[in-house]
Amino acid sequence: MPQNQSIVLASRPQGAATAENFRLESAATPALQDGQVLVRHHYLSLDPYMRGRMNEGKSYAAPQPLGEVMIGGTVGEVLETRSPRFAVGDKVVGMGGWQLYSVVDAEQPGALRKVDTTHVPLSHYLGAVGMPGVTAWYGLVRIIDPQAGQTVVVSAASGAVGSAVGVLAKSRGCRVVGIAGGAEKCTYVVKDLGFDECVDYRAHADALSLSKALKLACPQGIDGYFENVGGMVLDAVMLRMNAFGRIAVCGMIAGYDGQPLPMSYPQMILVQRLKVQGFIVSEHMQDWPAALKELGQLVGSGRFRPRESVAHGLEGAPQAFLGLLKGRNFGKQLVKLV
Ligand SMILES: NC(=O)c1ccc[n+]([C@@H]2O[C@H](COP(=O)([O-])OP(=O)(O)OC[C@H]3O[C@@H](n4cnc5c(N)ncnc54)[C@H](OP(=O)(O)O)[C@@H]3O)[C@@H](O)[C@H]2O)c1
Repeated sequence: MPQNQSIVLASRPQGAATAENFRLESAATPALQDGQVLVRHHYLSLDPYMRGRMNEGKSYAAPQPLGEVMIGGTVGEVLETRSPRFAVGDKVVGMGGWQLYSVVDAEQPGALRKVDTTHVPLSHYLGAVGMPGVTAWYGLVRIIDPQAGQTVVVSAASGAVGSAVGVLAKSRGCRVVGIAGGAEKCTYVVKDLGFDECVDYRAHADALSLSKALKLACPQGIDGYFENVGGMVLDAVMLRMNAFGRIAVCGMIAGYDGQPLPMSYPQMILVQRLKVQGFIVSEHMQDWPAALKELGQLVGSGRFRPRESVAHGLEGAPQAFLGLLKGRNFGKQLVKLV
């Protein structure tokens, strides 16, 4: 069996996470038991939710245990198998964690899924045709429920979730406006992803200034907002929401280091009779097949070309992850492991 390398959680962050919170370890992979397969990971997915798991406190999921391999989505290839359900060479997606190899109990429902790489590159099963894509689909379709001609705004618009929200909303006939950090990201959102406009929040000192820019970009107001960041961006959007608007609260990355995230205009929920709903994508497994089908068609046909930020080598994962939390990624953040 091959020698494995993994990254474990060494300590819990006090405020912002640092590279010292992680530790690289090395060990032999265990011999396979009946029903198990050995997977060699080609890509590891880095996702903002991992920051929450590093904390001890109460959340929707259990904390990442200290000294154990960091949780994470992976795509790879079956190297050895003692399961009739998988053959050597199968391309698979699973939750292999921050490591080079994983031994997976293939009989456990949902532990490992075979994927077809004929039209969709393997790495996209961690992004647009994976968990982030389904997240976009669920928040947009099930919560915002956009109608053709309505205006949908999404924050972190160049990222894994945000880019998919925009493409899905455009294909439903909406006016789509992104909010992203920096001119380069905004240009990509409009030119490559096909959004109608994109507002650079970093060019604005406060919510009122950002809100003025949103008024120009959304002359008919905002009917649906897909929230990924919180803070000043949410304040600015709240001031532009139309009556009976819907806000899908997907993420609040501006507060993931534990700082307070005050909301300046909650009265708009009442004044505009808004629906504000949080969700966790893993609690809606019944919607995954329909979402993955639509996203697979968009990517497979070339109508959606998701961008990726790829770090190379497992040892680069902590820095890439810390960069993701600061907006240094540009598109889906991955680590290439082969
Ligand atoms: N609810 C669920 O089930 C679920 C599932 C998956 C993801 N999510 C959430 O969805 C959001 C997007 O995830 P993703 O995987 O697609 O990540 P991503 O957008 O690819 O990367 C994170 C982006 O967040 C932005 N950002 C970081 N710090 C920020 C700050 N202080 N203020 C404003 N923007 C900031 C940066 O973009 P800019 O440079 O443009 O600021 C950064 O590139 C996250 O909040 C995540 O937690 C939720």
